[in-house]
Amino acid sequence: MILIVRALLLFSLAFTTFAEIHHHEFKVQELAVRRLCRNHRVVMVNGQFPGPTLQVRNGDSLVVKVTNAAPYNVTIHWHGIRQLRNPWADGPEYVTQCPIQPGGSYTYRFTITDQEGTLWWHAHSRWLRTTVYGALVIRPKLGSPYPFPTPKIEFPVVLGEWWDRKVISVLRQALFTGAAPNVSDAITINGQPGDLFRCSSQGTTKLIVNQGDTVLLRVINAALNQQLFFSVANHQLTVVATDAVYTKQFTTNVIMVGPGQTTDVLLTANQQPGRYYMAARAYATAKNAPFDNTTATSILEYRSANSQPILPQLPAYNDTNTVTAFSNQIKSPGYKVNVPTKIDENLFMAVGLGFFNCSPGPRCQGPNNTRFGASMNNVSFVLPRRTSLLQAYTQNIPNIYTTDFPPVPPVQFDYTGNVPRGLWQPVKGTKLYNLKFGSSVQIVLQDTSIFSTEDHPVHLHGYHFYIVGQGFGNFNPSSDTANFNLVDPPQRNTIDVPVGGWAAIRFVADNPGVWFMHCHIDTHLGWGFAMAFIVENGIGEFEILLPPPSDLPRC
Ligand code: C2O
Repeated sequence: MILIVRALLLFSLAFTTFAEIHHHEFKVQELAVRRLCRNHRVVMVNGQFPGPTLQVRNGDSLVVKVTNAAPYNVTIHWHGIRQLRNPWADGPEYVTQCPIQPGGSYTYRFTITDQEGTLWWHAHSRWLRTTVYGALVIRPKLGSPYPFPTPKIEFPVVLGEWWDRKVISVLRQALFTGAAPNVSDAITINGQPGDLFRCSSQGTTKLIVNQGDTVLLRVINAALNQQLFFSVANHQLTVVATDAVYTKQFTTNVIMVGPGQTTDVLLTANQQPGRYYMAARAYATAKNAPFDNTTATSILEYRSANSQPILPQLPAYNDTNTVTAFSNQIKSPGYKVNVPTKIDENLFMAVGLGFFNCSPGPRCQGPNNTRFGASMNNVSFVLPRRTSLLQAYTQNIPNIYTTDFPPVPPVQFDYTGNVPRGLWQPVKGTKLYNLKFGSSVQIVLQDTSIFSTEDHPVHLHGYHFYIVGQGFGNFNPSSDTANFNLVDPPQRNTIDVPVGGWAAIRFVADNPGVWFMHCHIDTHLGWGFAMAFIVENGIGEFEILLPPPSDLPRC
Protein backbone atom coordinates (compact mmCIF):
# COMPACT_ATOMS: atom_id res chain seq x y z
CA MET A 1 0.00 0.00 0.00
CA ILE A 2 2.68 2.45 1.09
CA LEU A 3 4.68 1.53 -1.98
CA ILE A 4 1.75 2.32 -4.22
CA VAL A 5 1.21 5.67 -2.53
CA ARG A 6 4.92 6.41 -2.94
CA ALA A 7 4.85 5.46 -6.56
CA LEU A 8 1.83 7.67 -7.13
CA LEU A 9 3.52 10.53 -5.33
CA LEU A 10 6.67 10.20 -7.40
CA PHE A 11 4.59 9.95 -10.53
CA SER A 12 2.70 13.13 -9.76
CA LEU A 13 5.89 14.94 -8.73
CA ALA A 14 7.48 14.09 -12.05
CA PHE A 15 4.59 15.70 -13.86
CA THR A 16 4.14 18.75 -11.71
CA THR A 17 5.81 21.74 -13.20
CA PHE A 18 7.97 23.65 -10.81
CA ALA A 19 7.90 27.27 -11.74
CA GLU A 20 10.95 29.00 -10.35
CA ILE A 21 11.62 32.57 -9.34
CA HIS A 22 14.99 33.81 -10.57
CA HIS A 23 16.56 36.72 -8.70
CA HIS A 24 19.19 38.82 -10.45
CA GLU A 25 21.02 42.04 -9.71
CA PHE A 26 21.98 44.25 -12.64
CA LYS A 27 24.54 46.92 -11.87
CA VAL A 28 24.69 49.40 -14.73
CA GLN A 29 28.11 51.03 -14.91
CA GLU A 30 30.40 52.86 -17.28
CA LEU A 31 33.66 50.94 -17.68
CA ALA A 32 36.49 50.77 -20.18
CA VAL A 33 36.44 48.16 -22.94
CA ARG A 34 39.19 47.60 -25.47
CA ARG A 35 38.19 46.94 -29.08
CA LEU A 36 39.89 47.77 -32.40
CA CYS A 37 43.13 48.63 -30.53
CA ARG A 38 41.51 51.33 -28.41
CA ASN A 39 39.85 51.73 -25.04
CA HIS A 40 36.44 53.32 -24.72
CA ARG A 41 34.34 53.79 -21.64
CA VAL A 42 30.96 52.19 -22.35
CA VAL A 43 27.90 51.48 -20.26
CA MET A 44 27.42 47.83 -19.36
CA VAL A 45 25.76 45.48 -16.90
CA ASN A 46 27.75 43.73 -14.13
CA GLY A 47 31.00 44.59 -15.89
CA GLN A 48 30.06 42.32 -18.79
CA PHE A 49 29.81 43.16 -22.46
CA PRO A 50 27.55 41.74 -23.79
CA GLY A 51 25.62 41.54 -20.55
CA PRO A 52 24.66 38.36 -18.69
CA THR A 53 22.55 35.69 -20.40
CA LEU A 54 19.40 34.99 -18.39
CA GLN A 55 18.20 31.39 -18.49
CA VAL A 56 14.67 30.54 -17.45
CA ARG A 57 11.84 28.16 -18.24
CA ASN A 58 8.37 28.88 -19.51
CA GLY A 59 6.23 29.70 -16.48
CA ASP A 60 9.13 31.02 -14.37
CA SER A 61 9.31 34.49 -12.89
CA LEU A 62 12.15 36.98 -12.95
CA VAL A 63 12.98 39.54 -10.32
CA VAL A 64 15.75 41.81 -11.60
CA LYS A 65 16.97 44.63 -9.43
CA VAL A 66 18.59 47.24 -11.67
CA THR A 67 20.93 49.67 -9.93
CA ASN A 68 22.13 52.61 -11.96
CA ALA A 69 25.76 53.40 -11.20
CA ALA A 70 26.27 55.04 -14.61
CA PRO A 71 26.17 58.81 -15.24
CA TYR A 72 23.12 58.53 -17.54
CA ASN A 73 19.43 57.79 -17.08
CA VAL A 74 18.68 54.18 -17.96
CA THR A 75 15.85 51.64 -18.21
CA ILE A 76 15.88 47.96 -19.20
CA HIS A 77 13.39 46.45 -21.65
CA TRP A 78 12.69 42.69 -21.84
CA HIS A 79 12.26 42.53 -25.57
CA GLY A 80 9.43 40.20 -26.61
CA ILE A 81 8.18 39.31 -23.12
CA ARG A 82 4.44 39.76 -23.21
CA GLN A 83 4.22 41.28 -19.71
CA LEU A 84 0.56 40.35 -19.37
CA ARG A 85 -1.34 43.12 -17.52
CA ASN A 86 2.05 44.29 -16.37
CA PRO A 87 3.42 47.09 -18.58
CA TRP A 88 5.13 48.41 -15.44
CA ALA A 89 7.92 45.91 -16.10
CA ASP A 90 8.22 46.59 -19.83
CA GLY A 91 10.87 49.29 -19.64
CA PRO A 92 10.81 51.85 -22.50
CA GLU A 93 11.68 55.21 -20.96
CA TYR A 94 8.90 57.78 -20.79
CA VAL A 95 6.49 55.17 -22.22
CA THR A 96 5.91 52.79 -19.31
CA GLN A 97 8.22 54.33 -16.71
CA CYS A 98 10.41 57.27 -15.92
CA PRO A 99 14.09 56.42 -16.30
CA ILE A 100 16.18 55.14 -13.41
CA GLN A 101 18.35 58.11 -12.58
CA PRO A 102 22.04 57.85 -11.69
CA GLY A 103 22.21 56.42 -8.18
CA GLY A 104 18.65 55.07 -8.38
CA SER A 105 17.29 51.57 -8.72
CA TYR A 106 14.17 49.75 -9.85
CA THR A 107 13.17 46.10 -9.60
CA TYR A 108 11.55 44.54 -12.65
CA ARG A 109 9.21 41.68 -11.66
CA PHE A 110 7.50 39.58 -14.27
CA THR A 111 6.37 36.10 -15.17
CA ILE A 112 6.91 34.29 -18.47
CA THR A 113 3.57 32.97 -19.70
CA ASP A 114 3.39 30.58 -22.65
CA GLN A 115 6.60 31.70 -24.29
CA GLU A 116 9.54 29.50 -25.32
CA GLY A 117 12.64 30.25 -27.30
CA THR A 118 15.06 33.14 -27.55
CA LEU A 119 14.40 36.70 -26.49
CA TRP A 120 16.75 39.32 -25.15
CA TRP A 121 16.95 42.35 -22.92
CA HIS A 122 18.37 45.79 -23.65
CA ALA A 123 18.54 49.34 -22.40
CA HIS A 124 15.62 51.44 -23.67
CA SER A 125 17.13 54.89 -23.13
CA ARG A 126 18.56 56.81 -26.04
CA TRP A 127 21.48 54.84 -27.52
CA LEU A 128 22.57 53.00 -24.39
CA ARG A 129 21.51 49.68 -25.83
CA THR A 130 24.61 49.83 -28.07
CA THR A 131 26.40 48.07 -25.23
CA VAL A 132 23.65 47.31 -22.70
CA TYR A 133 22.11 44.07 -23.92
CA GLY A 134 22.07 40.32 -23.35
CA ALA A 135 20.27 37.10 -24.24
CA LEU A 136 17.14 35.85 -22.47
CA VAL A 137 16.76 32.12 -23.05
CA ILE A 138 13.40 30.53 -22.27
CA ARG A 139 13.41 26.73 -22.22
CA PRO A 140 10.29 24.56 -22.10
CA LYS A 141 8.81 23.68 -18.72
CA LEU A 142 10.65 20.98 -16.81
CA GLY A 143 9.80 17.65 -18.42
CA SER A 144 8.54 19.20 -21.69
CA PRO A 145 10.72 18.54 -24.72
CA TYR A 146 11.66 20.88 -27.54
CA PRO A 147 9.59 20.23 -30.69
CA PHE A 148 12.87 19.09 -32.33
CA PRO A 149 15.66 16.66 -31.36
CA THR A 150 17.37 17.89 -28.20
CA PRO A 151 20.58 19.64 -29.24
CA LYS A 152 23.86 18.63 -27.65
CA ILE A 153 25.00 22.26 -27.35
CA GLU A 154 23.11 25.54 -27.11
CA PHE A 155 24.92 28.74 -27.98
CA PRO A 156 23.68 32.35 -28.07
CA VAL A 157 24.97 34.33 -31.05
CA VAL A 158 24.33 37.95 -30.15
CA LEU A 159 25.01 40.30 -33.05
CA GLY A 160 25.85 43.93 -32.32
CA GLU A 161 27.56 47.07 -33.54
CA TRP A 162 30.66 48.77 -32.17
CA TRP A 163 31.64 52.41 -32.56
CA ASP A 164 35.27 53.39 -32.27
CA ARG A 165 34.00 56.58 -30.61
CA LYS A 166 31.86 57.39 -27.64
CA VAL A 167 28.32 56.52 -28.83
CA ILE A 168 26.77 59.15 -26.62
CA SER A 169 28.73 61.80 -28.52
CA VAL A 170 27.86 60.22 -31.89
CA LEU A 171 24.22 60.61 -30.90
CA ARG A 172 24.72 64.08 -29.44
CA GLN A 173 26.36 65.28 -32.64
CA ALA A 174 23.53 63.91 -34.79
CA LEU A 175 20.92 65.49 -32.54
CA PHE A 176 22.69 68.80 -32.84
CA THR A 177 23.31 68.85 -36.58
CA GLY A 178 20.11 67.12 -37.72
CA ALA A 179 22.23 64.98 -40.05
CA ALA A 180 22.38 61.17 -40.00
CA PRO A 181 24.65 59.80 -37.26
CA ASN A 182 28.00 58.18 -38.07
CA VAL A 183 27.71 54.50 -38.91
CA SER A 184 29.37 51.91 -36.65
CA ASP A 185 32.95 50.76 -37.17
CA ALA A 186 32.44 47.04 -36.64
CA ILE A 187 29.71 44.45 -36.56
CA THR A 188 30.21 42.17 -33.57
CA ILE A 189 29.34 38.62 -32.52
CA ASN A 190 29.01 38.24 -28.77
CA GLY A 191 30.73 41.60 -28.44
CA GLN A 192 33.72 40.68 -30.65
CA PRO A 193 34.41 41.89 -34.20
CA GLY A 194 36.53 38.80 -34.96
CA ASP A 195 39.57 37.91 -37.04
CA LEU A 196 38.99 40.34 -39.90
CA PHE A 197 39.65 43.39 -37.70
CA ARG A 198 42.78 44.92 -36.28
CA CYS A 199 43.71 43.85 -32.71
CA SER A 200 40.70 41.52 -32.56
CA SER A 201 41.86 37.93 -33.20
CA GLN A 202 42.65 37.28 -29.55
CA GLY A 203 39.07 37.89 -28.56
CA THR A 204 37.30 36.11 -31.42
CA THR A 205 34.37 34.07 -30.12
CA LYS A 206 34.81 30.30 -30.53
CA LEU A 207 32.34 27.48 -30.34
CA ILE A 208 34.03 24.11 -29.92
CA VAL A 209 32.13 21.04 -31.11
CA ASN A 210 32.70 17.33 -31.55
CA GLN A 211 31.96 15.81 -34.90
CA GLY A 212 28.32 14.77 -35.06
CA ASP A 213 27.09 17.24 -32.41
CA THR A 214 23.87 19.07 -33.03
CA VAL A 215 24.00 22.69 -31.98
CA LEU A 216 21.17 25.13 -31.33
CA LEU A 217 22.34 28.62 -32.27
CA ARG A 218 20.16 31.31 -30.75
CA VAL A 219 20.83 34.23 -33.09
CA ILE A 220 19.82 37.64 -31.78
CA ASN A 221 20.17 40.90 -33.69
CA ALA A 222 21.03 43.40 -30.98
CA ALA A 223 22.60 45.83 -33.46
CA LEU A 224 21.49 49.41 -33.05
CA ASN A 225 20.82 50.24 -36.67
CA GLN A 226 21.60 47.37 -39.01
CA GLN A 227 19.77 44.37 -40.48
CA LEU A 228 22.23 41.49 -40.76
CA PHE A 229 22.81 38.35 -42.76
CA PHE A 230 24.26 35.41 -40.82
CA SER A 231 25.80 32.28 -42.25
CA VAL A 232 28.16 29.45 -41.23
CA ALA A 233 30.71 28.19 -43.77
CA ASN A 234 29.87 24.73 -45.21
CA HIS A 235 26.99 24.16 -42.75
CA GLN A 236 23.26 24.23 -43.33
CA LEU A 237 21.01 25.92 -40.80
CA THR A 238 17.59 24.53 -39.88
CA VAL A 239 15.29 27.29 -38.66
CA VAL A 240 13.11 26.15 -35.73
CA ALA A 241 11.88 29.37 -34.11
CA THR A 242 11.76 33.14 -34.57
CA ASP A 243 11.12 35.72 -31.84
CA ALA A 244 10.47 32.92 -29.30
CA VAL A 245 7.73 31.26 -31.36
CA TYR A 246 8.32 27.88 -32.97
CA THR A 247 8.15 27.69 -36.76
CA LYS A 248 7.84 24.99 -39.39
CA GLN A 249 11.37 23.73 -39.86
CA PHE A 250 13.25 24.55 -43.01
CA THR A 251 16.85 24.49 -44.07
CA THR A 252 18.84 27.40 -45.44
CA ASN A 253 22.43 28.55 -45.98
CA VAL A 254 21.83 32.06 -44.72
CA ILE A 255 19.38 33.87 -42.47
CA MET A 256 18.54 37.56 -42.24
CA VAL A 257 17.78 39.02 -38.84
CA GLY A 258 16.47 42.54 -38.37
CA PRO A 259 17.32 44.59 -35.26
CA GLY A 260 15.10 43.26 -32.47
CA GLN A 261 14.49 39.89 -34.09
CA THR A 262 15.79 36.49 -33.03
CA THR A 263 16.14 33.27 -35.02
CA ASP A 264 16.86 29.84 -33.55
CA VAL A 265 18.66 27.48 -35.92
CA LEU A 266 19.93 23.91 -35.59
CA LEU A 267 23.28 23.00 -37.07
CA THR A 268 24.90 19.56 -37.25
CA ALA A 269 28.66 19.34 -37.11
CA ASN A 270 28.77 16.90 -40.03
CA GLN A 271 31.64 18.36 -42.05
CA GLN A 272 35.34 17.56 -42.23
CA PRO A 273 36.83 18.30 -38.81
CA GLY A 274 38.13 21.80 -39.25
CA ARG A 275 37.45 25.42 -38.45
CA TYR A 276 34.60 27.32 -40.04
CA TYR A 277 33.67 30.96 -39.72
CA MET A 278 30.24 31.98 -38.56
CA ALA A 279 29.85 35.43 -40.11
CA ALA A 280 27.48 38.40 -40.01
CA ARG A 281 27.28 41.29 -42.45
CA ALA A 282 24.84 44.05 -43.36
CA TYR A 283 21.65 43.75 -45.34
CA ALA A 284 21.24 47.40 -46.38
CA THR A 285 18.50 48.73 -48.65
CA ALA A 286 18.40 52.53 -48.37
CA LYS A 287 19.77 54.15 -51.49
CA ASN A 288 22.87 56.33 -51.18
CA ALA A 289 22.95 55.97 -47.41
CA PRO A 290 26.24 54.98 -45.79
CA PHE A 291 26.28 51.78 -43.71
CA ASP A 292 28.79 49.63 -41.85
CA ASN A 293 29.95 47.21 -44.53
CA THR A 294 32.30 45.19 -42.30
CA THR A 295 32.04 41.45 -41.59
CA ALA A 296 32.03 40.04 -38.07
CA THR A 297 33.28 36.51 -37.55
CA SER A 298 33.36 33.87 -34.86
CA ILE A 299 34.70 30.35 -35.23
CA LEU A 300 32.95 26.98 -35.25
CA GLU A 301 35.86 24.76 -34.27
CA TYR A 302 35.83 20.96 -34.41
CA ARG A 303 37.73 19.74 -31.36
CA SER A 304 41.51 19.92 -31.87
CA ALA A 305 41.25 21.17 -35.45
CA ASN A 306 43.62 24.04 -36.19
CA SER A 307 43.26 24.68 -39.90
CA GLN A 308 42.77 28.17 -41.31
CA PRO A 309 39.02 28.92 -40.96
CA ILE A 310 36.89 29.08 -44.11
CA LEU A 311 34.60 32.08 -44.71
CA PRO A 312 30.97 31.49 -45.75
CA GLN A 313 29.67 33.22 -48.84
CA LEU A 314 27.36 36.00 -47.74
CA PRO A 315 24.71 37.56 -50.00
CA ALA A 316 25.36 40.99 -51.52
CA TYR A 317 24.50 43.87 -49.18
CA ASN A 318 21.32 44.70 -51.09
CA ASP A 319 20.21 41.16 -51.90
CA THR A 320 16.48 41.56 -51.29
CA ASN A 321 15.64 38.42 -53.30
CA THR A 322 17.47 36.27 -50.77
CA VAL A 323 15.69 38.02 -47.91
CA THR A 324 12.26 37.55 -49.51
CA ALA A 325 12.90 33.88 -50.25
CA PHE A 326 14.03 33.39 -46.66
CA SER A 327 11.22 35.24 -44.94
CA ASN A 328 8.54 33.60 -47.11
CA GLN A 329 9.54 30.25 -45.62
CA ILE A 330 8.89 31.32 -42.03
CA LYS A 331 5.53 29.81 -41.06
CA SER A 332 3.72 28.67 -37.95
CA PRO A 333 4.04 24.95 -37.30
CA GLY A 334 0.31 24.70 -38.04
CA TYR A 335 -1.02 23.98 -34.58
CA LYS A 336 -2.26 26.62 -32.15
CA VAL A 337 -2.81 29.08 -35.01
CA ASN A 338 -5.53 31.42 -33.90
CA VAL A 339 -5.55 34.27 -36.39
CA PRO A 340 -8.31 36.85 -35.97
CA THR A 341 -10.61 36.78 -39.00
CA LYS A 342 -13.23 39.33 -38.01
CA ILE A 343 -11.40 42.66 -37.78
CA ASP A 344 -12.60 45.42 -35.41
CA GLU A 345 -9.78 47.89 -35.98
CA ASN A 346 -8.32 48.17 -39.44
CA LEU A 347 -5.30 50.48 -39.42
CA PHE A 348 -3.14 51.53 -42.33
CA MET A 349 0.17 53.16 -41.48
CA ALA A 350 2.46 54.80 -43.99
CA VAL A 351 5.92 54.61 -42.41
CA GLY A 352 9.31 55.97 -43.31
CA LEU A 353 11.61 58.94 -43.27
CA GLY A 354 10.87 62.65 -43.56
CA PHE A 355 12.54 66.04 -43.21
CA PHE A 356 12.00 69.13 -41.14
CA ASN A 357 12.73 72.31 -43.03
CA CYS A 358 14.92 74.74 -41.19
CA SER A 359 17.01 77.77 -41.92
CA PRO A 360 20.53 77.05 -43.13
CA GLY A 361 23.02 76.76 -40.30
CA PRO A 362 24.86 74.31 -38.08
CA ARG A 363 21.63 72.75 -36.86
CA CYS A 364 20.25 72.03 -40.34
CA GLN A 365 22.86 69.67 -41.74
CA GLY A 366 20.38 67.18 -43.23
CA PRO A 367 19.89 67.07 -47.03
CA ASN A 368 19.04 70.52 -48.52
CA ASN A 369 19.14 72.41 -45.21
CA THR A 370 16.81 70.14 -43.29
CA ARG A 371 16.82 68.02 -40.18
CA PHE A 372 16.15 64.30 -40.60
CA GLY A 373 12.85 63.00 -39.28
CA ALA A 374 10.73 59.88 -39.51
CA SER A 375 7.04 59.26 -39.01
CA MET A 376 4.09 56.93 -38.87
CA ASN A 377 1.06 58.38 -40.70
CA ASN A 378 2.93 61.66 -40.85
CA VAL A 379 3.24 61.95 -37.06
CA SER A 380 6.83 62.21 -35.90
CA PHE A 381 6.63 60.85 -32.37
CA VAL A 382 7.94 62.87 -29.45
CA LEU A 383 8.42 61.25 -26.03
CA PRO A 384 7.06 63.12 -23.02
CA ARG A 385 9.58 64.33 -20.42
CA ARG A 386 7.49 65.12 -17.36
CA THR A 387 6.10 61.64 -16.79
CA SER A 388 5.58 58.37 -18.63
CA LEU A 389 2.63 57.73 -20.94
CA LEU A 390 1.52 54.83 -18.73
CA GLN A 391 1.49 57.01 -15.62
CA ALA A 392 -0.27 59.82 -17.46
CA TYR A 393 -2.89 57.30 -18.60
CA THR A 394 -3.46 55.56 -15.27
CA GLN A 395 -3.34 58.76 -13.20
CA ASN A 396 -5.28 60.91 -15.68
CA ILE A 397 -2.50 63.48 -15.97
CA PRO A 398 -3.55 65.95 -18.71
CA ASN A 399 -1.46 67.44 -21.53
CA ILE A 400 1.02 64.60 -21.82
CA TYR A 401 -0.44 62.93 -24.92
CA THR A 402 -3.48 62.94 -27.20
CA THR A 403 -5.38 59.89 -28.50
CA ASP A 404 -5.86 61.08 -32.06
CA PHE A 405 -3.21 59.01 -33.83
CA PRO A 406 -4.64 58.79 -37.36
CA PRO A 407 -5.81 55.28 -38.38
CA VAL A 408 -4.98 56.11 -42.02
CA PRO A 409 -2.50 58.58 -43.55
CA PRO A 410 -3.87 62.15 -43.47
CA VAL A 411 -3.20 62.36 -47.21
CA GLN A 412 -3.24 59.40 -49.56
CA PHE A 413 -0.45 59.29 -52.11
CA ASP A 414 1.56 56.87 -54.20
CA TYR A 415 3.58 55.71 -51.19
CA THR A 416 6.32 53.91 -53.05
CA GLY A 417 6.28 56.09 -56.16
CA ASN A 418 7.72 59.53 -56.77
CA VAL A 419 6.47 61.37 -53.67
CA PRO A 420 6.00 65.15 -54.12
CA ARG A 421 8.30 67.21 -51.87
CA GLY A 422 5.28 68.80 -50.22
CA LEU A 423 4.62 65.47 -48.48
CA TRP A 424 8.12 65.05 -47.06
CA GLN A 425 7.53 67.06 -43.91
CA PRO A 426 5.94 65.27 -40.92
CA VAL A 427 4.30 66.89 -37.90
CA LYS A 428 5.63 66.36 -34.38
CA GLY A 429 3.28 64.97 -31.78
CA THR A 430 2.68 62.50 -28.96
CA LYS A 431 -0.32 60.75 -30.46
CA LEU A 432 -1.66 57.46 -29.13
CA TYR A 433 -4.39 55.17 -30.39
CA ASN A 434 -7.06 53.62 -28.14
CA LEU A 435 -7.98 49.98 -28.45
CA LYS A 436 -10.88 48.32 -26.65
CA PHE A 437 -9.91 45.24 -24.66
CA GLY A 438 -10.35 42.15 -26.80
CA SER A 439 -10.66 43.93 -30.14
CA SER A 440 -9.18 42.27 -33.22
CA VAL A 441 -6.63 44.53 -34.85
CA GLN A 442 -5.13 44.55 -38.31
CA ILE A 443 -2.29 46.91 -39.17
CA VAL A 444 -0.89 47.30 -42.65
CA LEU A 445 2.56 48.87 -42.44
CA GLN A 446 3.38 50.58 -45.72
CA ASP A 447 6.93 51.71 -46.48
CA THR A 448 7.29 55.03 -48.31
CA SER A 449 9.88 56.22 -50.78
CA ILE A 450 10.32 59.57 -49.07
CA PHE A 451 14.11 60.12 -49.38
CA SER A 452 14.52 56.40 -50.03
CA THR A 453 12.60 53.18 -49.61
CA GLU A 454 14.09 51.00 -46.92
CA ASP A 455 13.14 47.89 -44.94
CA HIS A 456 12.12 48.75 -41.38
CA PRO A 457 12.04 46.33 -38.42
CA VAL A 458 8.82 47.41 -36.68
CA HIS A 459 8.47 46.14 -33.11
CA LEU A 460 5.30 46.05 -31.01
CA HIS A 461 5.70 45.82 -27.25
CA GLY A 462 3.46 43.54 -25.16
CA TYR A 463 2.32 41.40 -28.08
CA HIS A 464 3.08 38.74 -30.60
CA PHE A 465 1.28 39.32 -33.87
CA TYR A 466 0.54 37.15 -36.88
CA ILE A 467 2.09 38.24 -40.17
CA VAL A 468 -0.72 37.50 -42.60
CA GLY A 469 0.79 39.09 -45.69
CA GLN A 470 3.80 40.89 -47.15
CA GLY A 471 4.51 42.33 -50.55
CA PHE A 472 6.21 44.99 -52.64
CA GLY A 473 4.81 48.27 -53.90
CA ASN A 474 1.62 49.81 -52.55
CA PHE A 475 -0.77 47.61 -50.57
CA ASN A 476 -3.90 46.84 -52.57
CA PRO A 477 -6.77 46.18 -50.12
CA SER A 478 -8.81 43.98 -52.45
CA SER A 479 -6.26 41.78 -54.20
CA ASP A 480 -3.73 41.60 -51.36
CA THR A 481 -6.30 40.83 -48.67
CA ALA A 482 -7.60 37.94 -50.75
CA ASN A 483 -4.11 36.42 -50.65
CA PHE A 484 -3.58 36.65 -46.88
CA ASN A 485 -2.26 33.54 -45.18
CA LEU A 486 -4.75 32.69 -42.46
CA VAL A 487 -3.65 29.05 -42.26
CA ASP A 488 -0.09 29.05 -40.96
CA PRO A 489 1.12 32.65 -40.66
CA PRO A 490 4.21 33.13 -38.48
CA GLN A 491 4.02 34.99 -35.19
CA ARG A 492 6.65 37.53 -34.20
CA ASN A 493 7.19 40.63 -32.13
CA THR A 494 9.22 42.44 -34.81
CA ILE A 495 8.40 42.49 -38.52
CA ASP A 496 10.95 43.63 -41.06
CA VAL A 497 8.64 45.48 -43.46
CA PRO A 498 9.95 44.78 -46.99
CA VAL A 499 11.86 47.60 -48.71
CA GLY A 500 9.42 49.59 -50.85
CA GLY A 501 6.64 47.25 -49.73
CA TRP A 502 4.18 46.46 -46.97
CA ALA A 503 3.39 43.93 -44.27
CA ALA A 504 0.01 43.12 -42.71
CA ILE A 505 -0.15 41.99 -39.09
CA ARG A 506 -3.03 40.89 -36.86
CA PHE A 507 -3.47 40.44 -33.13
CA VAL A 508 -6.15 40.48 -30.45
CA ALA A 509 -5.76 43.38 -28.02
CA ASP A 510 -5.92 41.16 -24.94
CA ASN A 511 -3.14 42.77 -22.92
CA PRO A 512 -4.18 46.04 -21.26
CA GLY A 513 -1.64 48.84 -20.92
CA VAL A 514 0.33 51.35 -22.94
CA TRP A 515 2.38 49.59 -25.59
CA PHE A 516 5.02 51.18 -27.75
CA MET A 517 5.31 50.37 -31.45
CA HIS A 518 8.40 51.61 -33.26
CA CYS A 519 11.14 51.01 -35.74
CA HIS A 520 13.91 49.05 -34.00
CA ILE A 521 16.55 51.01 -35.89
CA ASP A 522 17.44 53.41 -33.10
CA THR A 523 18.28 56.21 -35.51
CA HIS A 524 14.76 56.04 -36.95
CA LEU A 525 13.21 55.72 -33.48
CA GLY A 526 15.03 58.88 -32.42
CA TRP A 527 13.76 60.67 -35.53
CA GLY A 528 10.15 59.87 -34.54
CA PHE A 529 9.29 56.52 -36.15
CA ALA A 530 7.05 55.44 -33.26
CA MET A 531 3.55 55.52 -31.80
CA ALA A 532 1.84 53.84 -28.85
CA PHE A 533 -1.39 52.00 -28.23
CA ILE A 534 -3.52 52.30 -25.15
CA VAL A 535 -5.24 48.96 -24.65
CA GLU A 536 -8.10 49.63 -22.26
CA ASN A 537 -8.99 47.39 -19.34
CA GLY A 538 -11.51 44.62 -19.89
CA ILE A 539 -14.12 43.74 -17.31
CA GLY A 540 -13.00 40.52 -15.68
CA GLU A 541 -10.54 40.36 -12.81
CA PHE A 542 -7.88 39.00 -15.20
CA GLU A 543 -8.47 41.66 -17.83
CA ILE A 544 -7.31 44.70 -15.90
CA LEU A 545 -3.93 46.28 -15.27
CA LEU A 546 -1.94 45.26 -12.23
CA PRO A 547 -1.21 48.08 -9.77
CA PRO A 548 2.11 49.95 -10.20
CA PRO A 549 5.05 48.74 -8.12
CA SER A 550 5.91 51.01 -5.20
CA ASP A 551 9.48 51.59 -6.40
CA LEU A 552 8.50 52.82 -9.89
CA PRO A 553 11.03 55.59 -10.63
CA ARG A 554 9.91 59.21 -10.58
CA CYS A 555 10.72 61.64 -13.36
CU1 C2O B 1 13.65 46.02 -28.31
CU2 C2O B 1 11.06 49.21 -27.83
O1 C2O B 1 12.42 47.65 -28.09
